Amino acid sequence: MRILITERIAEEGIDYLKSNGFEVDAKYGIARDELLEIIVNYDAIIVRSVTKVNRELLDKGPQLKVVGRAGNGIDNIDVPFCTQKGILVVNTPESNTMAAAELAIGLAYCLFRNIPKVHTAARNRDFRRNRFIGNELDGKVVGIIGLGRIGSIVARKLIGANMKAIAYDPYITDEKFTRNGVEKCETLEELLERSDLITIHTPKTAETYGMIGEKELEKCKKGVRLVNAARGGLFNEKALCEAVKSGHVAGAGIDVLDPEPGYDTPPEKQTFSNPLLELDNVVITPHLGASTMEANFNVGTAITKLVAEALKGEMVSAVNMPPLKGGDLTQLKPYIDLAEMLGKIYYQAEKERVEKLEIVFSGDLVEKETRVISLSALKGFLEPIIEEKVNYVNAELIAERMGIELVESRSSHLDKYTNLLTVKFFTKTRELSISGTVFAKQELRIVDFFGYKLDFEPSPFVIAIQNIDKPGIIGKIGTLLGSNDINIAAMQWSRNRRGEKAVSFVSVDGEVGDDILARLRETEGFLRVSMLKL
Ligand code: NAD
Ligand code: MLT
Repeated sequence: MRILITERIAEEGIDYLKSNGFEVDAKYGIARDELLEIIVNYDAIIVRSVTKVNRELLDKGPQLKVVGRAGNGIDNIDVPFCTQKGILVVNTPESNTMAAAELAIGLAYCLFRNIPKVHTAARNRDFRRNRFIGNELDGKVVGIIGLGRIGSIVARKLIGANMKAIAYDPYITDEKFTRNGVEKCETLEELLERSDLITIHTPKTAETYGMIGEKELEKCKKGVRLVNAARGGLFNEKALCEAVKSGHVAGAGIDVLDPEPGYDTPPEKQTFSNPLLELDNVVITPHLGASTMEANFNVGTAITKLVAEALKGEMVSAVNMPPLKGGDLTQLKPYIDLAEMLGKIYYQAEKERVEKLEIVFSGDLVEKETRVISLSALKGFLEPIIEEKVNYVNAELIAERMGIELVESRSSHLDKYTNLLTVKFFTKTRELSISGTVFAKQELRIVDFFGYKLDFEPSPFVIAIQNIDKPGIIGKIGTLLGSNDINIAAMQWSRNRRGEKAVSFVSVDGEVGDDILARLRETEGFLRVSMLKL
């Protein structure tokens, strides 16, 4: 499989992909036209913040299965469209938080002590230090907009520098403010009016883009310093320029411009311009927040591992999937596999259209992150009848389109198992169900097949036979399969009442041809025969 990398990541990550058998092309700073032309050849693309992974690009990459965002922000990726196309979006939100937080604080110190200006002057042999009297952070108020991963680190570190930290973030609990030792501002205005330093750490959304404009800047204290190491455009750049020129804002530290320059273009070819670059009291860094050796290594190794796992079809925590907490994935894996298998059985054994799928969780399962298990059942259920690629990302959208409802429920009823997963299939006329359990944390069992009790260890190829419960049936199965050189690996049968219908599950070593299945169906006493590929 082929992976295209369009922005620089750690070499260790690239080596990891190559050593795992992937073909990797690193084309840093590739021109858009060329990218649009070659994306057709790739199964995955790894980007940072500059490459726009939008409809235009996604439509030209029919083979794309994974978009890897080496870093945090996903504002350059059309996630809903990826979901629609069944493309997994993975990122590494934790890997560069410290780096970004430290840069924001570094910018703050630069502003308070004029460090870049003084440095330039000193290089020009101007040592008149009286021209560069700064201020201390100590004892001042820092206003943090967005108290998430990075905002919280900035808060804690600046509290350590003896600043008073206040924050505006309407989307988090009061407990999070308290935990970080930060005073909550009920309104943005309150933060603007009280802060000596304002640093923004929100994502770029329709709500946050331009959220600090002319009106907001007017509300700030005269002499305020501003830092944006989050996303270009969160501060309206035109308004900021005017406020710096007028002296109302004493200085701004800006890591991210709107739009961004090409970061791989050499200066002699660079045509980028931005009025903020012309102002002495503005310190600009080229989206450098994540650029430390540590973060580069963390991001590069984390993203390549995620992309490789996702391409291998392993379950990974993705942006466009229900959230999974770190360690949970290994624990959930057997249930995810079980659910997919149970879902997969229905259309291999039945024909009647299903209108609703209900996933019932009992026992230990009640406590687990069940959403991804339900999606797995749905994925397995849809796969045999859908031509397009079904995965955890698009299964629900496809079901919705087909008018199939997905319902989750929890049951306190538990027979003899510590955990039980039941998939109920509702058609217009009836309700059928298949149940399974996981023994010893990893051994899967099918324990109920449309009302017949079993204790069946699934194998890749199983013939499911519904027959009349009478002597000679097992012999007939053995004879017909044996005479056709089909080896029976295991067999189990179940009946609910003597002399009525029964079910036989026969594990065989490979797929059995239609002719043999037809002959089994014609055999006297056999009611239905299905080849299950599990
Ligand atoms: P996060 O999701 O952990 O935190 C964002 C916080 O912003 C959340 O608590 C959220 O509730 C809050 N928020 C959202 N909308 C808001 C609004 N309208 N007003 C106030 N608060 C609001 O994100 P993070 O990991 O801390 O990243 C923060 C920003 O930094 C993102 O934009 C990310 O892309 C950027 N980033 C930049 C660099 C860089 O190199 N400069 C590196 C990493 C991350
Ligand atoms: C991020 O969102 O992780 C940062 O913007 C860093 C980057 O991608 O360069």
